[in-house]
Amino acid sequence: EQSRQIAEILSEFRLTTEQLLEVKKRMRTEIQNGLSKSTQDTATVKMLPTFVRSTPDGTEHGDFLALDLGGTNFRVLMVKIRSGKRRTVEMHNKIYAIPLEVMQGTGEELFDHIVHCISDFLDYMGMKNARLPLGFTFSFPCRQTSLDAGILVTWTKGFKATDCEGEDVVGLLREAIKRREEFDLDVVAVVNDTVGTMMTCAYEEPTCEIGLIAGTGSNACYMEEMRNIEMIEGDQGRMCVNMEWGAFGDNGCLDDIRTEYDRAVDDFSLNPGKQRYEKMCSGMYLGEIVRNILIDMTKKGFLFRGQISETLKTRGIFETKFLSQIESDRLALLQVRSILQHLGLDSTCDDSIIVKEVCGAVSHRAAQLCGAGMAAVVDKIRENRGLDHLDITVGVDGTLYKLHPHFSGIMHQTVAELAPQCNVKFLLSEDGSGKGAALITAVGCRLRQELN
Ligand code: BG6
Ligand code: GLC
Repeated sequence: EQSRQIAEILSEFRLTTEQLLEVKKRMRTEIQNGLSKSTQDTATVKMLPTFVRSTPDGTEHGDFLALDLGGTNFRVLMVKIRSGKRRTVEMHNKIYAIPLEVMQGTGEELFDHIVHCISDFLDYMGMKNARLPLGFTFSFPCRQTSLDAGILVTWTKGFKATDCEGEDVVGLLREAIKRREEFDLDVVAVVNDTVGTMMTCAYEEPTCEIGLIAGTGSNACYMEEMRNIEMIEGDQGRMCVNMEWGAFGDNGCLDDIRTEYDRAVDDFSLNPGKQRYEKMCSGMYLGEIVRNILIDMTKKGFLFRGQISETLKTRGIFETKFLSQIESDRLALLQVRSILQHLGLDSTCDDSIIVKEVCGAVSHRAAQLCGAGMAAVVDKIRENRGLDHLDITVGVDGTLYKLHPHFSGIMHQTVAELAPQCNVKFLLSEDGSGKGAALITAVGCRLRQELN
């Protein structure tokens, strides 16, 4: 009886092929809404133009600084790109912590902290006087009017600094640099992490025209035809569009597949009602869904002898790396138990079997949902080009994709099943989006010189 009830709870997370095809179809509708003039103001999937008009062609060169803000790690990087016969990219980087008080304090504090870290990095590299061009990977939705201007639409994930939404983040960065009166930098480009990832991969593999992040957050970008991007003048060529697909479902269009656990995670998040798809598929939230299911099962007496411990009440205990460990097939149940023990959850052998099942159900659904979204994107590109068959590569990054033992495989399989007319390859981005930001900055510098 108990196992039947457990199975019943988890069955809510099992999506049929029909349901996944429906998710794909709805994503396609939202893509269209985001691109069209008449619907873009209210569209949930915002389809933001990035002013990146091509993938790298190998002629990019120069020395650049890059910032990478919004994922697990905040980094400052120095990227040296050499073109010609022996193309090379040399990178140096340092990771800095962003304390929670800074992530959720005032905008001024956040940007002062960023500039403080740049200062430390320049000291470390011995480059205080160089006035290098800088590319800013800023992994949040920005409305761009050019390569070097981006108005923050809304914070997502764990950030909530005041006085930033509605502001140009490049302006905020430049002001913070001025406030410090210590060095000068030339901010050339603001770049979403999906775009940086696509560019990094496209540098090695020209068929890469899509970027995907399955990490703390979830998002994708791709090369869209200019004629389809109605908010931008001109019909020639292509431009990369940052989809901001994490907001898919914010108009209620996924409500039929959201569970009570998804709603609980959403309700207690920093941004209730927002980023509903992201909250079903990305690393920052999967552990929270698991925790909510475990609490419910404990209340019903199926787990932990019916005792809800303080640990289980603690938000954020199940990070991506723990889920990944728990689901690893190489681990014996005893080791799952010791992970739970380590988290402060006293479990029996039966408990650990159930916990592993719960994790599996949640991550399986996440991978399938992400795959359904990607299937919509590749089919859109295929139709744009009037092809019966499309070969394309997706550049991917993110801790969930990289660390989880099953996420990538299930996601790939879902894309293959839901978009049979596309042959989709996935290429892991090795160096994060900082390199891509530098490549975009190189192009930005060249264009600027051509204009002058
Ligand atoms: C990398 C970037 O591309 O992947 C990060 O350099 C980005 O800035 C990240 O946000 C996504 O991964 P995660 O898991 O750290 O959010
Ligand atoms: C969030 C952000 C988006 C970013 C993604 C992955 O969805 O809004 O800009 O690309 O996380 O980091």
